[in-house]
Amino acid sequence: MVDEQLADGFETIAIHVGQEPDPRTGAVVVPIHLASTFIQDGVGGLRDGYEYSRSGNPTRTALETSIAALEAGAVGLAFSSGMAATDTLCRTVCRPGDHVVLPADAYGGTYRLIARVLGDWGVEHTSVDLTDLAATRAAIRPGSTRLVWCETPTNPLLTIADIAALAGVAHDAGALLAVDNTFASPYLQQPLLLGADAVVHSTTKYLGGHSDVVGGALVVNDADLAGRLRFLQNAAGAVPSPFDCWLVLRGIRTLGVRMDRHCANARALVDLLTAHPAVDLVRYPGLPGHPGYPVAVKQMRDFGGMVSFTVRGGSAAALAVCGRTRLFTLAESLGGVESLIEHPATMTHASVADSPLAVPAELVRLSVGIESVDDLAADLRAALDELPSAAADRE
Ligand SMILES: Cc1ncc(COP(=O)(O)O)c(C=O)c1O
Repeated sequence: MVDEQLADGFETIAIHVGQEPDPRTGAVVVPIHLASTFIQDGVGGLRDGYEYSRSGNPTRTALETSIAALEAGAVGLAFSSGMAATDTLCRTVCRPGDHVVLPADAYGGTYRLIARVLGDWGVEHTSVDLTDLAATRAAIRPGSTRLVWCETPTNPLLTIADIAALAGVAHDAGALLAVDNTFASPYLQQPLLLGADAVVHSTTKYLGGHSDVVGGALVVNDADLAGRLRFLQNAAGAVPSPFDCWLVLRGIRTLGVRMDRHCANARALVDLLTAHPAVDLVRYPGLPGHPGYPVAVKQMRDFGGMVSFTVRGGSAAALAVCGRTRLFTLAESLGGVESLIEHPATMTHASVADSPLAVPAELVRLSVGIESVDDLAADLRAALDELPSAAADRE
């Protein structure tokens, strides 16, 4: 293990913890252990605790150790997707008849899982505005609410919830607080240090960082909860392949520098958007006018690389912008080095179209990448300038 005194800063942890040189060969990069099974020196004689790769694999251990350290938590668990991580946490904490509180603008896939999959299993839910603590308290059902699910910033509306305050609300009711930290990444926000009981990641996004892997992770402190999660991870088997673990680990090594650039580029584009006549409302937690700004300042190191905005001219204008950018690639997902643009109502959030979580049709979401910011600005400006509302303003 790396000496904890030496690995104190975030970037040092990201590069070294869980990623020590291979003790046998000296390879400075964690090997991809593709083996599905491991020799036993006599029945039950495991050499390093490994017997079968669904139960455990050295490359996965490296990733799980790394993510736990990045989140300042005790135990990390890696999954084959963010949704697999969410599913494992929910089915570990909840039983049929139990209840979950989730944000009124939760990621659509999380809502779908809780409402339609866990719902069929008998788990009930209430969607509530988590920025309203009184409403959140009122949504909790004493004795049956096991989990308060928080996402901050949310996808795609970038709502900010107060993690420390929500931890108090959840704990007062005997419930756990889980925080989906996908949008912030542990570089910008560490929910366990703010009182959360579990952190959830889609490692597909900023942790992987290169749009080349789908994965998920959980980090917790409580040993009993960790043991129960480990049981379901193995029993249900939604584990990532060793190669996928390695890809996420490689992304993690540059997480800090990437996030700094994502944040700086996003800030510059927010300036452009707020000044553009075709843009109606910019949603970015770093804007002092954003309702969550004071909380974001309190609990985040910076404001992230995700920006959403509405355009004048409704969904037709939003679709036109999405179709006109050339550097911003029209695609789902987020958190990679390349900039992406999308129309949440018909793309990432189509699954909640007819639900209370439906997103505005005129909304456009940007995942701001780490390209040269002047090129990104020129691309976005050109796409916006072509909108009739921009032309009308010029006349
Ligand atoms: C905030 C958030 N949580 C969870 C997920 C699900 O992750 P995955 O696609 O890796 O299953 C996503 C995917 O977009 C997300 O944006």
